[in-house]
Amino acid sequence: MFDMLVRLYDLPDYSKEAADLEAAGTIVRRPLAPEKYQVIDWVRGHFSLGWSSECDVSFARAPISCFIAIKHGKLVGFACYDSTCKNFFGPTGVLQSERGSGIGRILLWKCLQAMKDGGYAYAVIGGVGPAEFYSKTVGAFPIEGSEPGIYRGLLRRESDTKVKAEKRPRKTKS
Ligand SMILES: CC(C)(COP(=O)(O)OP(=O)(O)OC[C@H]1O[C@@H](n2cnc3c(N)ncnc32)[C@H](O)[C@@H]1OP(=O)(O)O)[C@@H](O)C(=O)NCCC(=O)NCCS
Repeated sequence: MFDMLVRLYDLPDYSKEAADLEAAGTIVRRPLAPEKYQVIDWVRGHFSLGWSSECDVSFARAPISCFIAIKHGKLVGFACYDSTCKNFFGPTGVLQSERGSGIGRILLWKCLQAMKDGGYAYAVIGGVGPAEFYSKTVGAFPIEGSEPGIYRGLLRRESDTKVKAEKRPRKTKS
């Protein structure tokens, strides 16, 4: 779980890929405040409580420091920045069944564009994950000595990483 660095002044241009994705029915945009509970509940259900907490924090930023991917009206992905630390990208995730179709790349790119527009020259990808995805899509490279970095001593509950398998409790009839 090391960090990676991205040169925002050298970002590739994925505007054509973003337009193609939109033409095929997937829109990537910032969520609106009224969508907060749907988004953080979705992140909790598909990923973890830790990630949904980070996503929750992104809704306290102005503008909201998160992008979501919506395919035919359904949430299929999310990405946050400036959440756990200023200048940090993450977390991000795409619905398993939708992976490999370019959604993760556009979520990442839109966040990094927003960070660049916000005045950053570099972005840190916090606590990677799939390093090849980041190096391939935006030329990210590992930051030496960054493990465990800011996550040192992080409180963890075993149940937090098991959200995916968890079944919601059924309502009992009164
Ligand atoms: C990482 C993740 C967000 C990527 O989303 P995605 O929509 O599948 O990615 P894309 O389809 O946009 O992939 C873009 C490119 O990166 C590559 N890529 C995607 N995931 C990769 C991975 N895990 N490892 C290596 N390469 C990967 C793709 O093959 C594609 O390459 P191409 O341009 O040659 O076709 C998604 O796999 C995911 O949700 N993973 C689980 C959560 C996670 O690990 N999040 C990151 C935490 S740091």
